[in-house]
Amino acid sequence: MANILVVEDDEVFSQLLIMHIEDRGHTSRAAHTLAQARELLSVSTPDAVLLDQQLPDGYGMDLLREIKTDKDAPPVIMVTGVSDNALVIEAMKAGAYDFVRKPMDELELDTTLNNALHSHRLSRKVRAISKATDYEVEMNQIVGNSPGITHLLKTIGSVAASQASILITGESGTGKEVVARAIHHHSERSGLFLPVNCSTIVENLLESELFGHEKGSFTGADRRKPGKFELASDGTLFLDELGELPLSLQAKLLRVLQEGTYERVGGTETLHTNARIVTATNRNLESMVKEGGFREDLYYRLNVVNIVLPPLRDRMEDLPLLTEHLLRKINQRLHTQVKNISESAWALMQAYQWPGNVRKLENILTRATVLCRDDTITPDLLGIDDAVADKGKPKTENSDTVELISLETLEQRHVRQILEYTRWHKGKACEILGISRPALERRIKKYGFDES
Ligand SMILES: Nc1ncnc2c1ncn2[C@@H]1O[C@H](COP(=O)(O)OP(=O)(O)OP(=O)(O)O)[C@@H](O)[C@H]1O
Ligand SMILES: [Mg+2]
Repeated sequence: MANILVVEDDEVFSQLLIMHIEDRGHTSRAAHTLAQARELLSVSTPDAVLLDQQLPDGYGMDLLREIKTDKDAPPVIMVTGVSDNALVIEAMKAGAYDFVRKPMDELELDTTLNNALHSHRLSRKVRAISKATDYEVEMNQIVGNSPGITHLLKTIGSVAASQASILITGESGTGKEVVARAIHHHSERSGLFLPVNCSTIVENLLESELFGHEKGSFTGADRRKPGKFELASDGTLFLDELGELPLSLQAKLLRVLQEGTYERVGGTETLHTNARIVTATNRNLESMVKEGGFREDLYYRLNVVNIVLPPLRDRMEDLPLLTEHLLRKINQRLHTQVKNISESAWALMQAYQWPGNVRKLENILTRATVLCRDDTITPDLLGIDDAVADKGKPKTENSDTVELISLETLEQRHVRQILEYTRWHKGKACEILGISRPALERRIKKYGFDES
């Protein structure tokens, strides 16, 4: 049972509406003018409002706008004899739930009212839940208003609901995971979003992580374990750092994509999955295909839609919004109150090239916030002045000073820089340095580098 407010100046029509509503087991209150309606609304909030447009003391649209300023506002159904199409658009824009024209079709009114009450109940429930997750939503949102980000949002909107496999590419820290989560969120799939990082897990563990295993299938497998494909049913499986996926597993992944089937490690039962696959990599898969490190057939299967994330340096117009967003996030996390960036610090940030992209921006702001003594970030706290000073200046030719160091020292320094740049992403480091994984491992050992 719901309580419905009927705002209608025509006595007869108002009575008809009320009888109809009460026949359906609801209660109602009637107002014949805007003033009466406002008075009733100030006493209690109904579950829905049926609102006429032309009233003796003004327009229903005005009341609609007033009601909709409250975010818990009840649904408002406009019931009117005015045959003005522009009004329909205006009313929907102003937040009307629906529009029913006079003479009224009873069935139409029933359906509209029931839907309105149902969705209002549902959205109240969602709001109650989302209060708890507001923080999370805020933390995961895609910030920016550059053409690149606008294009990205449009792509997400148009592909989210489809089943198409999506490959997200972009430099480290450009927001690949944020985008994958957004795709899942907007797909309205009821299942979970499950990320798997293909580079952090050793090959045979990765296989069992993805496909699950049967009890006794290997030492330590003391019970059956479901894989991510099973757990992500009705949801999204996000395969991050896809370029690191070993060839043996590439074949198995291809089969899942082609047939939707797989077996657990050590199992014979054929399982089906309907998980949506979203993948990401900061490696150049096309050149990996050419070099034989990545299966061509799999590449085409996964790359149905390719979302390319632009590096931050190519969308510097997003820097203000991103900085504001990240500072808010950092202040919440660290319980700090850092609100400003000094002019000179800002100039430095704008001149910087942002290797490491948004992640680097977040790191730099976090560090500055921790070191900050008042509420303003100054250039000394950013730790990026050297990099900016170096920007665009060729070191060797035309330089007055020559560093008298050995080739080995130069190599040591360069390898360390690249490891730091890639945040110890060895695959990426190998790609940049143009050396094999064992060659990199040898140098790490030789120079005694360690990740901390
Ligand atoms: N457009 C954006 N709006 C808001 N935050 C962003 C955006 N892009 C990235 N971030 C933030 O930057 C950080 C890095 O993003 P994310 O982990 O998605 O990057 P990535 O491309 O997956 O990086 P990597 O290749 O290093 O894994 C996260 O904290 C994320 O919230
Ligand atoms: Mg990532």
